[in-house]
Amino acid sequence: MNELKGKYAVITGAAGGIGAATAETFAREGAAGIVMADMDGGRAREAGKRIESGWDCKCMAVKTDISSASAIKNLFFESVKQFGTVDILVNCAGICPVGSIEEIGEAEWDRVMDINLRGTYLCSREALAIMKEKLSGKIVNLSSISGRIGGIATGINYATSKGGILTLTMSLAKAAGPYNINVNGVAPGFIDTEMTKNFTHFKVETVPLGRIGKPDDVADVILFLSSDRSRYVTGVTIDVNGGVFMA
Ligand SMILES: NC(=O)c1ccc[n+]([C@@H]2O[C@H](COP(=O)([O-])OP(=O)(O)OC[C@H]3O[C@@H](n4cnc5c(N)ncnc54)[C@H](O)[C@@H]3O)[C@@H](O)[C@H]2O)c1
Repeated sequence: MNELKGKYAVITGAAGGIGAATAETFAREGAAGIVMADMDGGRAREAGKRIESGWDCKCMAVKTDISSASAIKNLFFESVKQFGTVDILVNCAGICPVGSIEEIGEAEWDRVMDINLRGTYLCSREALAIMKEKLSGKIVNLSSISGRIGGIATGINYATSKGGILTLTMSLAKAAGPYNINVNGVAPGFIDTEMTKNFTHFKVETVPLGRIGKPDDVADVILFLSSDRSRYVTGVTIDVNGGVFMA
């Protein structure tokens, strides 16, 4: 119950299904403070209040658009001002629009890349500057099964951004390793959240474990990668998909 005792985390996309479940899991495991960063500041605040009412963990919501470099700078400035440091960053914010190659167009391609891939890079860059100073830290990135095997119902821009996150995770891990900072990822399969509520193509019969994933299934793996238990693991992306894809 004390895997993250006294730790301070920044979670992007903290108002969403997996982000909020991760924040709750961190609070349950003794985190001292969580910065709930999300484009939807109101829902991030509500999620933070729910957590504060259940656990001894301070939550601060910061409305942040992770496609904006200046908004991200502000996020980390506010985080350090409030909690003094950042021990853990979870890059969970993301969008998953669907559409064929013809429908996507250049602007939509760029929008998905800017949020999913560039946002993950920019947040990691800011967190690394803080973590390098104290020679410790954990970064966990959200990839996807579509980054492994290509998009199924998801757009090619989404799948490509998530494939980029696999490579970004390995590259950041190599750069951050000498500073005792672990950078890892998770690649969820189909998880029941707002993001997937209109996905009708998915067949539960294709899942060896026989059910659709829940946000907690992913949050528990993020917890492992954020805790000391994964101290000798870096550059790895763990599949959390019920067995749909096995590396
Ligand atoms: N649900 C799944 O099946 C699944 C599968 C694979 C990967 N993922 C990944 O997991 C992560 C979380 O997804 P989820 O299922 O919880 O979805 P979700 O839609 O419930 O949550 C995503 C959150 O990101 C926030 N967000 C979107 N754009 C943003 C921006 N520009 N700046 C800041 N915040 C922004 C949204 O407001 C939302 O709260 C995403 O990166 C997603 O790609 C999800």
